[in-house]
Amino acid sequence: MTKREQATAKGRRVHRRIMLWSMLVIALGAMIAPLGGYLFVEIAGAQGFEEVNPRSETTWRDVREGNTGVTTVLGDETGVLIQNGGENWRQLRNGIVANVMPWVLLAALVAIVLVYFIGGRHRLDEKPSGAVVPRWKLWERVLHWTTATLFILLAITGLSLLFGRAVMIPVMGPEGFAAYAGGAMNVHNYVGPVFTLCVAAMALAWVWHNIPTRADLEWFKAGGGFLKGRHPSAGRMNGGEKVWFWFIVLVGGVVCATGVVMDFPIWGQTRETMQQANLVHAVASILWIGLFFGHAYIGTLGTEGAIDGMKTGYVSVEWAKQHHDLWYEEVKDQEVDASEIGLTSGVATTRTPPEKPASTG
Ligand code: HEM
Repeated sequence: MTKREQATAKGRRVHRRIMLWSMLVIALGAMIAPLGGYLFVEIAGAQGFEEVNPRSETTWRDVREGNTGVTTVLGDETGVLIQNGGENWRQLRNGIVANVMPWVLLAALVAIVLVYFIGGRHRLDEKPSGAVVPRWKLWERVLHWTTATLFILLAITGLSLLFGRAVMIPVMGPEGFAAYAGGAMNVHNYVGPVFTLCVAAMALAWVWHNIPTRADLEWFKAGGGFLKGRHPSAGRMNGGEKVWFWFIVLVGGVVCATGVVMDFPIWGQTRETMQQANLVHAVASILWIGLFFGHAYIGTLGTEGAIDGMKTGYVSVEWAKQHHDLWYEEVKDQEVDASEIGLTSGVATTRTPPEKPASTG
């Protein structure tokens, strides 16, 4: 072997040795280095540091605790990735609210059925003669029926969103419900503000009829005429109608206000505000729907002739005298014959045929 060949062979051996040692160091290092963590924990423990996972402390735990991080997105709370109150809200909404409120609606329906069977319908004592008095102007009727239509739309879509998961998914399947719920949510979100304006207009327009008076007290003492044969005196609106009106202003006002808070998150509402608004909105609106059942029953089946006013604008003088005697005294000079103003439908127009003149023959 020449000197040159000897040097080359030695170089190769050195290379191989370096490679072997390197691989050994890497393998041992890869096994030993992670164990250094235990050393760190031991030292930290000996120095009295809390034993915590350093990564969970700095990242995930901060996120879970709802702490504010750093973000370039501008806006309130944008630095808070997870807001823990959401879990409490979910449990309250899907727990107490979703489980208790259906019973409120059922109780309202049962109460109406009992009133119907025990108290019976409030029929007119006297047959309508055909004479009528004006009660609601056209714009008032348009406002009332627009509000009522929007209310029913909101009630159906709102109840679907609250109870759909439990009631509709088993029937429609998840895909069908998801498609319906998307539409229902949009209808609810867009109709809500228009309805709010209608409720505000109604409240302003009719507040003057609904100021409580002494006659209302007497009306309540007489049970609102629930007991047959008693017709407590009432002005333009009776005590029960005033309760409905002020319920709309107060509880309905809360429903509308919380709806607006959720619909327009542009005034710096935090997620917590939205969660609280959502719970109050759900509870108050179901109370409203319960009372609405009562209002719709009294206005249709429950009281003969009441719907005429909201349908035609006029009520029969017999109805006016029986249900709102004090108000009738104020409007009796506006009495007209239904046929004169072209009324063709409703109780008010079922004129008693005039008596035939006795035959002279
Ligand atoms: C389909 C459902 C409804 C029916 C059948 C109905 C029926 C009636 C009737 C017949 C009247 C006239 C009563 C009278 O002349 O003394 C009336 C008045 C009224 N309705 Fe309705 N209504 C319905 C829905 C609603 C809704 C959803 C609201 C509000 C959200 C509402 C709010 C009112 C108010 C505020 C009054 C006047 C009572 C007062 O000023 O005290 N109604 N309704």
